[in-house]
Amino acid sequence: MQPFPPLNPRVPFIWHGGDYNPEQWPRSMWDEDMRLMQQCHFEVATIGVFSWVSLQPEEERFTFGWLDAIFEKLATAGRYVCLATPSAAQPAWMSQRYPDVLRVDAQGRRRRHGGRVNYCPTSPNYRRLATQMAQKLAERYHKHPALVAWHVSNEYLAACYCDLCAAAFREWLKQRYGSLDELNQRWWTAFWSHVYTDWSQIEPPYDNGETSIHALVIDYKRFQSDMMLECFKSERDAIRAYSPDLPITTNMMGVYPGLDYRAWAKEVDVIAWDCYPRPDDTPSDIAFLHDIKRGLRDGQPFMLMEQSPSNQNWQAYNTLKRPGVVRLWSYLAVAHGAETVMYFQWRRSRGEAEKLHGAIVEHSGRSDTRVFREVQQLGTELASLKDRTLGGVTPSEVALLFDWNNWWALDASSGPIHDKRYIATMRQHYAAFWRRNVPVDIVFSDSDFSRYRILVAPLLYMLKPGVAERIAAFVEQGGTFVTTYLSGWVDECDLVFEKGYPGPLKQVLGIWNEEIDALYPDQRNSIVFVDSGATYTCGHLCAITHCEGATVLANYGDDFYAGTPVVTRNRFGTGQAYYLGSEPEARFFDDFYELLLQEQQIQPVLSTPEGVEATVRQTVRGPLLFVLNHLATSAQVALPKDKRYHDLLRGREVTEAISLDGYDVAILAEI
Ligand code: GLA
Ligand code: ZN
Repeated sequence: MQPFPPLNPRVPFIWHGGDYNPEQWPRSMWDEDMRLMQQCHFEVATIGVFSWVSLQPEEERFTFGWLDAIFEKLATAGRYVCLATPSAAQPAWMSQRYPDVLRVDAQGRRRRHGGRVNYCPTSPNYRRLATQMAQKLAERYHKHPALVAWHVSNEYLAACYCDLCAAAFREWLKQRYGSLDELNQRWWTAFWSHVYTDWSQIEPPYDNGETSIHALVIDYKRFQSDMMLECFKSERDAIRAYSPDLPITTNMMGVYPGLDYRAWAKEVDVIAWDCYPRPDDTPSDIAFLHDIKRGLRDGQPFMLMEQSPSNQNWQAYNTLKRPGVVRLWSYLAVAHGAETVMYFQWRRSRGEAEKLHGAIVEHSGRSDTRVFREVQQLGTELASLKDRTLGGVTPSEVALLFDWNNWWALDASSGPIHDKRYIATMRQHYAAFWRRNVPVDIVFSDSDFSRYRILVAPLLYMLKPGVAERIAAFVEQGGTFVTTYLSGWVDECDLVFEKGYPGPLKQVLGIWNEEIDALYPDQRNSIVFVDSGATYTCGHLCAITHCEGATVLANYGDDFYAGTPVVTRNRFGTGQAYYLGSEPEARFFDDFYELLLQEQQIQPVLSTPEGVEATVRQTVRGPLLFVLNHLATSAQVALPKDKRYHDLLRGREVTEAISLDGYDVAILAEI
């Protein structure tokens, strides 16, 4: 894969900046903001997020004066602007005048005005007014020399259950199914007398209504994701008409379950996302989230739009990022494909819900604070890297398949176990490669698999049309495919495949599943390898499997299905397909994937001590090796003997080994 051009060729460096809300502060403070921004290399200010009422205090009146003024101030101070549209929180006058803009919850209750993302994505009034605002902003500022990118709305969230949404949903279903007969068949509605005899009978899946038709539940998620996306597209198109050359994006969240980000990815110019790790997220979990974002546009680098420079406020325990961690996690993002290091927020607000959220400038307003100094040090360092990391791509030979619709289907399904652990399972598989410093691309059902040597698709319960065929072609042409229990059960409408699981994957895997056992949390079975006798515990779900051509690698050790296959391998064409029938203990992943990597002769980027990560970005000027010490204590890392490197952050040559302090990072360019 070729390196990518910079996000915006006019500003070819890592953007260091973040959310700035000058409308919350008296103008008398703005000069101080500029001074402090210059001091800490805060180069790109995202302005406008949530500023709707400040720009349009009533429907007929617009007040762009303050925005004009702050644009000028930022430009004069040598800063750049990422301009956000304010549509994530409508002003009170709008909810009052047009109650249809207010969301309705899953109980069918219309919400009162307040909070944010409290709008109905289908409401014509909301769409009209949001699009008008985007158009006015674009018309007014598209030529401004400080403007470098567009940020539409903020963290789109599903879902609304209002009557407008219900009506639009019926139209959406008509498009999708053509006829009510077809819908009834695909949704299997003869069950429990659920057959619809008129389109008007179809309702959203209210909590107190119809939630037993799984296909309805899944389709409603698809529909809401589409409605939100239409809102985005409407604003985007209004902006693009004036500003065809600047990147237009919106900020996504981790693996947010409410929207199909793969569909969204096709509509943005660059992926942007907000990284707020939870206290129990490991570095590998955070890396996984970055890799999903890089995968969304098939390897294109992305924007880290928000992260907290210190603490959050909305978790149960809002710990401070330890000294050095904001730097480490910023480089973690860059190592996995970020082109920007941006924060929420510039200045901590004095009131309301986020007054205790971390910020670069805290309530004291001082710059002699730990957080300010860390941000300043990082800003200085990032500036010194100039364009060195930009556009770099990650050369991965391993792909991990993720699919939002599949996740929705797993979650919607009643049985075989309540929590299917989709994300946790993805993370486990991912971590086995991460621990070995083997880069992984996250791919999706519609991705091109042929670029990879190993394709891992855990819990691929829903197979969309053509996916099984493309997996078979991948294996036939020499690929190694790995999948698990619960794969290949249903089609895109959640209809179970006939003639045995894993449906259209049976042939490539050379097996069929007869039953699946759900285990209580403290229950275990075991995986016993036929050749070596190596034994691992397993649990959660146990698929009972028969081989039809596949070789048994391991059998269950216990219960009435002891001695039946749990790990199998099938040669198919010139490749092979592995099946894993149960959830193994962590140790299994290491051993199993080690073997596969050896088989495929896939080398790690570097061998590092546990807790130290190494990954690579291939830039126009050659590969950059990122070495990240996730430990609080120092670590020694041996480098390949035959290579010499330039340590970009320390400005010196290194050979043989580097020593990293706790949470320290090195970016090494081969000489
Ligand atoms: C999100 C939002 C921000 C802010 C932060 C707080 O990412 O986009 O506006 O609310 O969370 O963590
Ligand atoms: Zn609605």
